[in-house]
Parts: sequence; structure tokens; C-alpha cells
Amino acid sequence: MIPEGSSIRLGRAIRGLLTIGSSVVVLAPALPATSAADGIPGASSVPVVHKFAGNHKCKTCHEKEPIGNQYGVWLDSTHAKAFGTLATDKAKKWGAEAGVDDPQADEKCVKCHSTAYGVPDKMVSRKFDRTAGVQCEACHGAGKDFRKKKVMIDRDLAVSKGLVLQNAEVCTRCHNDESPAWDPGRYSLPGGGKAGFDYDQAVKKIVHPVPEGYDPLADGEVD
Ligand code: HEC
Ligand code: HEC
Ligand code: HEC
Ligand code: HEC
Repeated sequence: MIPEGSSIRLGRAIRGLLTIGSSVVVLAPALPATSAADGIPGASSVPVVHKFAGNHKCKTCHEKEPIGNQYGVWLDSTHAKAFGTLATDKAKKWGAEAGVDDPQADEKCVKCHSTAYGVPDKMVSRKFDRTAGVQCEACHGAGKDFRKKKVMIDRDLAVSKGLVLQNAEVCTRCHNDESPAWDPGRYSLPGGGKAGFDYDQAVKKIVHPVPEGYDPLADGEVD
């Protein structure tokens, strides 16, 4: 049982405050300097102390309508298709230009088009699908230890177990000029000028919110 007035409400309240305005609120701890996957843009954003669960685990709760079906939104996004993209003619052409035979089998491409690239198998659940593209945990952190409901509804506890709060740095590990798809003029900035990546605008394209007023305690048992 979760006591009344616990950090659940606080969590939603804080979240409300954080979404006011468009400034990037950097709440997440700085990305760690050392990990097995250090320097690999598409890999884990947390040290590999937590295991990757796989999007099928997140799906069990996050495909429900009351919570906002984040899974469905993700599945329709290009992130979910990012590994398949590496089999297209365009990918093969760019691969050839980079000296890559098969983009789906080469670190030069896979590191940003998949999840947990470079993370050893023992830190990845057995059913984790390495071909499932840029999954939940590429942005939210390896989830085996935070995916329990009683953890998920308490933001501080979840962060202590590996949940990564969002900020631009999470994205620019992959959205940067190392990508052959990089277009420095992709985004028009509100104040004039162009940028290859703009966090506020890019997030709007992938947004998958929890509906206002959602009550996790009314939505099934807390395990
Ligand atoms: C057992 C059910 C369950 C599973 C499994 C689960 N979640 Fe959650 N998740 C929740 C609930 C409930 C919330 C709280 C929603 C709220 O009140 O806003 C939540 C919240 C979140 C949040 C928002 C946290 C915050 O404080 O901003 C993220 C991000 C998230 N989940 C990602 C994931 C990922 C990634 C996975 C898979 C590794 C996952 N969840 C698996 C139930 C679950
Ligand atoms: C692990 C690497 C990775 C991370 C982290 C990542 N992305 Fe992406 N993103 C990609 C790849 C690869 C594609 C292209 C997928 C395709 O076309 O198959 C993409 C595509 C997109 C697109 C659609 C293309 C477009 O420009 O309209 C948006 C929007 C986007 N990402 C936003 C974000 C945001 C916002 C974040 C951070 C919260 C983020 N991404 C984090 C790799 C990543
Ligand atoms: C540094 C990370 C990174 C690396 C490395 C990377 N990509 Fe990507 N790729 C991205 C991102 C991010 C996008 C989405 C671009 C956007 O919309 O902003 C993308 C998009 C693409 C697309 C879709 C572009 C379109 O216009 O439809 C193809 C194809 C692609 N990449 C192929 C490759 C190939 C082939 C390699 C290896 C030679 C590679 N990528 C390496 C991050 C990367
Ligand atoms: C490309 C990066 C990326 C991927 C992949 C991704 N998310 Fe998110 N997620 C974000 C960002 C960024 C936010 C915060 C958006 C904002 O500021 O409004 C977020 C917010 C959330 C929230 C909290 C929403 C709220 O209103 O409080 C939940 C829950 C969540 N994501 C679950 C998931 C699940 C489950 C998956 C996989 C099925 C997933 N996310 C995939 C980047 C991502």
C-alpha cells in the first residue's frame, strides 16, 4: 500500500511545474563519465549497473489507454523503426560512403539506430530485442530495476534505480553531426537562425504524455 500524500502526488505536481515554459530543465544527473559503453552515442546513458529490460516489459503497463499508451505512440515513431532503416537503399548508399558493408551489422551505424549497443549481454535481459530500434530505455535508462509499479510512481526512487529524466543531452548523443543524416538547417529557431537539432521542437514530435488526472492507484494493483 502507498500511504496518502506520499511522493506520488508530489511527483505529478513537480512534473506540472517543470513543463511550464519551454526552457530545458536539467534535472537529470550529469551523464556519467565512465561506463562500459562510454563514448558510444547510442548506448546506455547510465553506467551499466542496471539491466536493460526491453520494450516488451514497458509495454505491459504503458500500452494501456488510461496511462496514455506511450508504447503505441513509440511503436508508430521512427525511433521504433530505426534498425529497419539501416536496411534501406539510402542506408546502403551512406554505408558504402563510410566504408560500411552492412549498416545493420556495423558499429558505425548500429550504435545510434538501436538500444544498449556495446552493453554486454549479461546486462541485457534474455528477451531484449536488439533489432527493436531506439527503444524506451535508450532515452529513459536501463529499466530492469525501476520498472516495478511501486518504484515507477515514486520519481525519486525510480531515479535512484536508473530512471533517466529527460534533457537535451539524452538526445544529442545520437542527434549530432556524426550522423550521415545530419542536416544543420533542419530546425528553424524561434529567434531566427537554424539548428540541426532543437530539443523543444523535437520533443513535440515524439511526445507521449501521461494524461492529466491519471491516477496510478486506480489503475490496477501496486506490486
Ligand atoms: C508495472 C507497471 C509499469 C511498468 C512495467 C513500467 N512502468 Fe513506467 N510507469 C508506470 C506508472 C504507474 C507510472 C506513473 C505514471 C504517473 O503517475 O504519471 C510510470 C511512469 C513512468 C515514467 C515517468 C516517470 C516520471 O516520474 O516522470 C517513465 C519515463 C516510465 N514510466 C518509463 C518506463 C519504462 C522505460 C519502462 C520499461 C523499462 C516502464 N516505465 C515500465 C508503470 C509501469
Ligand atoms: C539511441 C539514439 C537516439 C536517441 C537517444 C534519440 N534519438 Fe531521435 N532518432 C534517432 C534515429 C536513429 C532516428 C531516425 C530513425 C529512422 O528514420 O529510422 C531518430 C529520429 C528522430 C525524430 C524524427 C525525425 C525528425 O527529425 O523529425 C525525432 C523528432 C527525434 N528523433 C527526436 C528525439 C528526441 C527529442 C530525443 C531525446 C529525447 C531523441 N530523439 C533521442 C536516434 C536517437
Ligand atoms: C551519431 C548517431 C548516428 C550514427 C552514427 C548514424 N546515424 Fe543514421 N540517423 C541518426 C539520426 C539521429 C537520424 C534522424 C535524423 C533526424 O531526423 O534528425 C538518422 C537517420 C538515418 C536515416 C534516415 C534518413 C532519411 O532521410 O530518411 C538513414 C538511412 C540513416 N540514418 C543511415 C545511417 C547509416 C547507414 C549509418 C552508418 C554509416 C548511420 N545512419 C549512422 C543518427 C545516427
Ligand atoms: C527518443 C527518446 C524517448 C523514447 C524512445 C521514449 N521516450 Fe518516453 N519520454 C521522452 C521524453 C523527452 C519525455 C518528456 C517529454 C516532455 O518533456 O513532455 C518522455 C516522457 C515519458 C513519460 C512521462 C510522460 C508524462 O506526461 O509525465 C512516460 C511515462 C514515458 N516517457 C514512457 C515511455 C515508454 C514506455 C517508452 C517506450 C515504449 C518511451 N517513453 C520511449 C523520451 C523518450
